[in-house]
Amino acid sequence: AHAADAAATTLGFTEVPVGYTTADAVAPGYSADVLIRWGDKVLADAPAFDPAAQTADGQRRQFGYNNDFIGYLPLPAGSDASDHGLLVVNHEYTSADMMFAGVTADTQLNEAQVAVEIAAHGQSVIEVKRSNGKWAVVEGSRYARRIDTGTTPMVLTGPAAGHDRLKTRDDATGTQVIGTINNCAGGVTPWGTVLVAEENFHGYFAGTPTGAEAANHKRYGITDEPWYQWHRFDARFNIDANPTEPNRFGWIVEIDPYDPASMPKKRTALGRMKHEAANVHVGDDGTVVVYMGDDERFEYLYRFIASAKLDRANPATARDILDDGRLSVAKFSDDGALEWLPLDWGQGPLTPANGFNSAADVLIETRRAADLLGATRMDRPEDVEPNPVTGKVYVMLTNNNKRTADQLDAANPRAKNETGQVIELTAPDGDHTASRFTWDMFLMAGKPEDGAVYGAGTTEAGQLYCPDNCAFDNKGRLWITTDQGSAAGKRQIADGVYATDTTGAGRAVPRHFYRVPTGAEMCGPCFTPDNTTLFVAVQHPGEDKGSSFDTPSTRWPDFKDGVPPRPSVVAITKADGGVIGG
Ligand code: FEO
Ligand code: CA
Ligand code: CA
Ligand code: CA
Repeated sequence: AHAADAAATTLGFTEVPVGYTTADAVAPGYSADVLIRWGDKVLADAPAFDPAAQTADGQRRQFGYNNDFIGYLPLPAGSDASDHGLLVVNHEYTSADMMFAGVTADTQLNEAQVAVEIAAHGQSVIEVKRSNGKWAVVEGSRYARRIDTGTTPMVLTGPAAGHDRLKTRDDATGTQVIGTINNCAGGVTPWGTVLVAEENFHGYFAGTPTGAEAANHKRYGITDEPWYQWHRFDARFNIDANPTEPNRFGWIVEIDPYDPASMPKKRTALGRMKHEAANVHVGDDGTVVVYMGDDERFEYLYRFIASAKLDRANPATARDILDDGRLSVAKFSDDGALEWLPLDWGQGPLTPANGFNSAADVLIETRRAADLLGATRMDRPEDVEPNPVTGKVYVMLTNNNKRTADQLDAANPRAKNETGQVIELTAPDGDHTASRFTWDMFLMAGKPEDGAVYGAGTTEAGQLYCPDNCAFDNKGRLWITTDQGSAAGKRQIADGVYATDTTGAGRAVPRHFYRVPTGAEMCGPCFTPDNTTLFVAVQHPGEDKGSSFDTPSTRWPDFKDGVPPRPSVVAITKADGGVIGG
């Protein structure tokens, strides 16, 4: 079997066996070292982590909760340094029952606990350095920064900025927002910034949608049963008092980590949805194209083309390039064609007759605009990323257990889809601005009994569930990370990292490289430029049925009594210092 495996792939590692254990596991010959954990110091004056005595003031200076996206930016800027750089890390969400003693899903949190939760959202920017083969956080770095949902000012830019629907009682300009929430994945731009996605923003807002914004808020899932209790202490999160505040979330936010004083910018030209991520392709002529997924069952795949070209010799000129351009949504045909439908205000159904009185309305209600154009309803589009070697674009579709047998199409071909699929898009002659692409099913995830389809030679361990995020190495190989949710515990198969060739005999033959501890999902795959390090984010370890701060299913990575499991960034390196995956 080993000889056959070796023949079918360029990936030169022995797979990690399937498992569901309290510790993580990596392929033999590699080490997986925890770099930074929830509560560790980000700013020099941060207090030491004490799970029994958390404060918002401390959390605002410590590494936040539930690390998701990781972006690596070399130091010095513009170099390809692979032993020294900045990491920008998203802190997507918080889980009070895993963070605080004595808390269950039904507990009324107190104001201090909610303040910790708010401070544990946002981003961390850390400086990291490798010496003698091991990565460490540089203490006292001038780049170190916490971007926090409760206090960090941001600006709305682009066509919707300043529109009446973005104005609130506290902000008559419609351009000034405090913080960003539920930042899932993202992307690093070729001009040295990071794009972070605002995903499930609806879960933070309470109230009954009524009045002018009612249909809008309902389309994005706001109800009087929010996921969080922030509205009990901050009226900003109560739509009865502040009906337009949710319109200031659901955007792509651009952050310049090289300038710690810079203000993050919410780029309204990229549309408003439950953004999973945003990844940039630059054409030979400098054309900037951004691919994005809206992660919810039956939502859409999007593309943005910037109006201006990138001057590669002068990347700083791209500072505001994402403020002007054209947004489109994908319509898949069963014959393998894909059409990009432009969301142009004033064209087709996107007119005042349907309540779209300006380009801003189209951007604020991107989903409704895409509905009217007849875009293809997908099985939860997560990461969408162009392969820098081949130029093909890969779409991670994680699952959709609500799809019924009468709602199938070739791109979403399974009813009650619990396992997901990966679609490959091809731009004609590499022209990513073309209005028509073609597409192929790259793989159908799951086991054979789920209707899975892989390349020949895929092992039992390599059969993955629920593709979520991804990265490419310098050989154009696709590294997929998975998120099964609570199904991981039921299956007793942990989430992890799976690598596959995208061409040749090893095409669509995933190989299992790393797995997370119980209850966790795998996020944030990110290579250094030389591919000798793969950073990954272990998110929500211990998030199992019946697990809590007091009785966690794992105490990874500390394994100390009284210390709960801690979401952490892990640096994976090869023992001989070589390229990950060989
Ligand atoms: Fe935050 Fe789409 O997962
Ligand atoms: Ca995700
Ligand atoms: Ca990615
Ligand atoms: Ca996920």
